[in-house]
This record gives sequence, structure tokens and C-alpha cells, in this order.
Amino acid sequence: MTTDRSPMPKAGVRRIAVVGAGYVGLPTAAVLSHHGHMVTLAERDERRLEILRQGRSPIVEHGLEEMLKDGMSTGRLRTVRSAAEAVVGAEFVFLCVETPQSADGSADLSFITAAASEIAPHLADGAIIVNKSTVPVGTVGLIERVLGRADVVTVSNPEFLREGTAVADSLSPDRVVVGADDREAAARVAELFGDSGAPVVITDATTSELIKYASNAFLATKLTFINTMAGLCEAVGADVLDLVLGIGYDKRIGFEFLRPGPGWGGSCLPKDTAALVAISNAAGYDVSIVRGAISGNDEQMRRVVAKIATAAGGTFRDRTIGVLGLSFKANTGDRRDSPALSITKMLVAAGASIRAFDPTVTTADADQPDLAHVTVFDSAYEAVTGTHVIALLTEWQEFRWLDYSKIRGLVANPAIVDARNLLESGLVHRLGFSYSGIGRS
Ligand SMILES: NC(=O)c1ccc[n+]([C@@H]2O[C@H](COP(=O)([O-])OP(=O)(O)OC[C@H]3O[C@@H](n4cnc5c(N)ncnc54)[C@H](O)[C@@H]3O)[C@@H](O)[C@H]2O)c1
Repeated sequence: MTTDRSPMPKAGVRRIAVVGAGYVGLPTAAVLSHHGHMVTLAERDERRLEILRQGRSPIVEHGLEEMLKDGMSTGRLRTVRSAAEAVVGAEFVFLCVETPQSADGSADLSFITAAASEIAPHLADGAIIVNKSTVPVGTVGLIERVLGRADVVTVSNPEFLREGTAVADSLSPDRVVVGADDREAAARVAELFGDSGAPVVITDATTSELIKYASNAFLATKLTFINTMAGLCEAVGADVLDLVLGIGYDKRIGFEFLRPGPGWGGSCLPKDTAALVAISNAAGYDVSIVRGAISGNDEQMRRVVAKIATAAGGTFRDRTIGVLGLSFKANTGDRRDSPALSITKMLVAAGASIRAFDPTVTTADADQPDLAHVTVFDSAYEAVTGTHVIALLTEWQEFRWLDYSKIRGLVANPAIVDARNLLESGLVHRLGFSYSGIGRS
């Protein structure tokens, strides 16, 4: 065990380590230090660490950079490269490492187990491990076995923040879920979030782990539902935006996650629904509703491609598509499992060329492997120049305010497929564009 020589913090102030400075670890560390705790954040990726050391945020997230800077300038937040170093003397260790999808759909836990074996010999006596990564049932037990430390308790604390509003969500979450068989440890973890005033759900570890997957499966199913209704609206000549108003005012339904679009994506919903199916299969139980949500989502992306094909005149041969938006949703630079990239890949496979613009991507990013199939431009106007169809795939508000009369003069063919229903269809019609939204005539 490593000896800690740093001073004890003030009463109520906890010494906390956060392992992983990604979309979850960064806001977690920033907000915990904002609440006055002494936080050490470990990140092994040199590029992310170097950006942090320059006082910047490695991810696009509203308010995060200011909060990180504040934590660093007051000395409450420091960054290190190694998780082993970060955990020395920490009372709580938050695991915020990636759990990507394996080939069979299940969650890949290798980053979790690697982090656990890395920190095990360096943990303080009686430390509490708080797992924020999204993991299958049984992972708390797996972590405890890898740690092999009878004095260390592991607690599940799933994270529900949304990218784009991660800081606000971490400051005032809708609820805090803590799962542990050791209720005293769970209560101590819950105390860390006391300032947020959020309701706390304390449960056993298995239920806590399942809560995260159930939440994401529900949200994915809701999105597939409204996308399916959008298709039905098109089939019968109804308007999905009015349909959303008509059902969303019902408090039992609500408006959240009721926006039709190109299909859901991002770093969580696709892998978490696949993982839930894998968990269910292993348990001999069929979650057909979740399987339906996944296949409905694949179908939605194919429907968007079909719309773009129609707008292109029925063929992609010698057609260039101007794509607006590459991130998986607005207000984030995250492109992991972005529907925009899935759709552009399908377009390229069908023979189209892609010119693309996204506010979080510059020509300097052109060598990123996920962008190999598109040509990136530094402005929307450049991207749409000479194109046969404009496909709006991410709901960045700035796309609403582009000068579409100028764009009318730049394109080879005036056609817009608005997969986010962002534009005023009457306006672009008047400028001479053909317009196709989702679930609108
Ligand atoms: N992104 C989201 O919106 C979100 C929301 C809720 C839950 N989650 C879950 O949280 C977890 C993390 O997601 P993310 O999006 O933050 O991932 P991420 O890939 O952005 O960040 C993980 C970071 O951990 C670092 N890391 C991995 N092992 C390490 C180690 N041993 N030492 C130091 N650093 C290490 C990686 O280099 C990476 O920077 C996943 O399980 C995810 O499903 C994500």
C-alpha cells in the first residue's frame, strides 16, 4: 500500500479521485471540486491531459472550461496521468472510464478491470470505489474481485448527464442513484451529492446497474416511437409536429425525447440498448420491445437515405450531398455512433460524394478516421457549394440562420432534406428549394 503524505482536508471536504477525464469524468471532477472537495483527476490520454494542463477543456461542453479553470486555480482540482497516483489518500474513487460495445453487443469491461487492477495496491484503507461507468449487472462484484481488497467497498452510481448540458445536469441532477449492498457506504456516497437537493434512490448494486440501462432503453424506445409516428404521418398525410403537440401536453407523456429525427445515436443509446439485449439474452429473457426500438432505429436511418435519394433524382451516381452537421446532436463535438456518420456512410456506399460542415469540426480534423469518407469544410457555404441535395443531419441552431437565398445561388440543385425539422419549410420553398422534413408534408 502507498503512504499518503498530503494534508487532511477540512471537515466536510472529501479527498476524491476521478479516473478518466472524458464526457463523464470531466464534469464529475469539475462539479465535485466546485462543491469544495479536493479532487485529483487521472487521464492517461496524453492529448486530453495536455489540453487540460493548458487550462482548457478537451471536450465541447457548456460552462465546463470555466469550472475546470476555477478548480485548478483554487487548488481543489489537479490532473495526473496515472490512476495509481490519483487514488493515493482518496476516500472516494470515481471510475469514469469507457465501456464500449464488444463484437457480440455486450459491454467491454476491459477498461474497468484494467483500472481496478491498476489502483488496487494504492488505495487508502477503507476507500470507497464509486463506479459511474455504464456496466452490466454484476460488475460491482467483478470490480471487488479484481481489487481483492476486503477493506474496500465498491458502489454503483450510474450517471445520467446529457452531453451538451453536462455541467448543469451534474450540478442539479433529476435524481441520484446509489447501489450497494453496504448501505452505509451508499449513504456516504449519496452525501457527496447533498448540495444538489436531488432525490436519492439507494438500492442494491444489481438494481442500480440495471436502472441505467433501463433509462436509456426507455429513451431510445420513446425516440423510435416518435420516429415511427413520423413515418405514419407521412403515409397518411398528417403532421408530426402537431401530433407531438397534441400528445406531449399530456403530462403522462411529456415533450422530452419526442422530437422526430434521423435516428438516435451517440456514445450511449446504441451501445446501452445492445448491452441490455445481451444481458437479457444471457438471463434467458427476451426484451422484444428494446430489440424493436433498435431495428426501428436502423429503419429510420434508411428512410432518411431514401429521402435524400428521392431529392437527388433517384440516383447517387455523380451526385454530391452537402451535409450540415456531423456530431450526434447539437452542442457537443461527440461523433461516436453519430446518425449523421451512419447516414453519410450509407450515402457513400450508394455512390454519393459528401461535402460536410459541422461547427465542431475544422479542416484540421480531416485526418480523423471517422471522417475518412467525407470532405470537411470550414463553413456551411463552402460545404454546400455545387451540391445536389443539402442534408441537414444535426440540429445546430446556427443552421436555421444561414442565408438560404445565398445558398440557392451556390448549389447545383435546390433540394433540402431536413432530418431535424429545423428549417421553416415555407421560407426555403419560396426561395425555390424542394424541401423534405421528417413526418411533415
Ligand atoms: N458520454 C455520456 O454522455 C455518458 C453519460 C452517462 C454515462 N456514460 C458512461 O460513462 C462511461 C464513460 O463515458 P465517457 O463518454 O466519459 O467516455 P470517454 O471515452 O469520453 O472517457 C473515458 C476516459 O477514461 C480514460 N481512461 C480509461 N482508462 C483509464 C485509466 N486506467 N486511467 C486513466 N484514464 C483512463 C480514457 O483515456 C478516456 O479519456 C461509459 O461507461 C459511458 O457509457 C456516458
